[in-house]
Amino acid sequence: MKVCVIGTGYVGLVAGACFADSGNTVICVDIDKEKIEKLKKGIIPIYEPGLQEIVLKNVEKERLFFTTEIKEGVEKSDIIFIAVGTPEGEDGSADLSYVLQAARDIAKHMNGYKIIVNKSTVPVGTAEKVRKEVEKITNHPFDVVSNPEFLKEGAAVQDFLKPDRIVIGTNSEKARKIMVDLYSPFVRKKERIILMDNVSAELTKYAANSMLATRISFMNDLANLAEKVGADIEKVRIGIGTDSRIGLAFLFPGVGYGGSCFPKDVKAILKTGEEYGHKLSIIDAVERLNKEQRKIMVDRVTNFFKGDIKGKTFAIWGLSFKPNTDDMREAPAIDIIKGLVEKGAKIQAYDPVAMENAKKVFSRLGINEEITYCPKQYGALQDADALIVVTEWMEFRKPDFELIKKLMAGNTIFDGRNIYKPEQMKELGFNYFSIGRKPVIQG
Ligand code: UDX
Repeated sequence: MKVCVIGTGYVGLVAGACFADSGNTVICVDIDKEKIEKLKKGIIPIYEPGLQEIVLKNVEKERLFFTTEIKEGVEKSDIIFIAVGTPEGEDGSADLSYVLQAARDIAKHMNGYKIIVNKSTVPVGTAEKVRKEVEKITNHPFDVVSNPEFLKEGAAVQDFLKPDRIVIGTNSEKARKIMVDLYSPFVRKKERIILMDNVSAELTKYAANSMLATRISFMNDLANLAEKVGADIEKVRIGIGTDSRIGLAFLFPGVGYGGSCFPKDVKAILKTGEEYGHKLSIIDAVERLNKEQRKIMVDRVTNFFKGDIKGKTFAIWGLSFKPNTDDMREAPAIDIIKGLVEKGAKIQAYDPVAMENAKKVFSRLGINEEITYCPKQYGALQDADALIVVTEWMEFRKPDFELIKKLMAGNTIFDGRNIYKPEQMKELGFNYFSIGRKPVIQG
């Protein structure tokens, strides 16, 4: 099949590369000239395991092409994916201007029947908006399909190649058949392709993300109670997660969810509820709790130092919003570092891949001199008053604790991801604070 993907962000680039890998001819379009030039040479703008290999392989096999010319992409393709950004608008709703512009651009260059696919995360009713925009411009026949993407950063290629399910929303039998055909190489069982109407597909994406966000806020809320009653949230997590109705995934308490999806999509669905006169009370609480959770580390650190952290130095391990990505969007590390710096602290930060992006974020916030970016994990510990683990990168899980003790001025670890064992920390002589478990304080 001939496929065009508009937008070479996470979703567009991964989808384009994976569709090419299953034998289709794919043209990826982006307005960013520099990005397209780099992609042509196999230089990937984001850190995503496995993506470079799959891009290079398919460029070489002449199945994957990059261009800034939308005309070429539309004319040569039967299926056109819109995978442009839907950033948070001023009022919290998703900003659809890029999606609708892409729709108009497609319409201008249509030369026959096309399937236009909304791959971007778009609110309920967007397929209809896209249809109307296109109809205004062209008389060529077309169908609009809503096909949300569920891939996770850091595992994007694998998630795309082996999805739990594929949601295809359309009322057109013709489009449905073609879409099922396009996706069939990625699923072993046909039932994994779930067919529905456009609106249900649009709502499914927001429902999935807010359900997952709900599990996280629920666990964070319980973790805070566990600390008060003296329970261990990690035991509780396994105690409930082994119930097959609940399941173990996405029950990890921490410093609050971040990333490019959950915070934005939770706000956007709340906005949709408002627009349709339906208050989503649970999701509203999920968002509020997440905001509070992101502050918890700063309060914990400040309390430990008896309310005064002015002039103190903190080592931060992990800046990206989660491991295996250099993505800093809505990363809890931003709130934590900002909070500590506002109270007069200094930061020595280390992240395996996100430091360049982090520098840009903090410099936009005017936080420059207060942060030293350390090229090495242990270098960040030098003379620090405490270590704060913000992201659970694999390399932080089994560190050399003796070296940590030797390098730091203090002996306190704040663990925002529960990656260490309190008993071990006690034995090693650390003060240790985690989430939802009793703190360890050396006598
Ligand atoms: C998410 C969805 O998982 C994906 O299906 C959707 O397409 C996009 O949004 P992503 O943002 O890449 O993917 O990351 P994910 O792994 O879901 O983590 C999101 C956030 O939740 C991270 O900040 C992570 O640290 C946090 N999280 C996740 C928890 O705090 N606890 C958990 O148990 C799981």
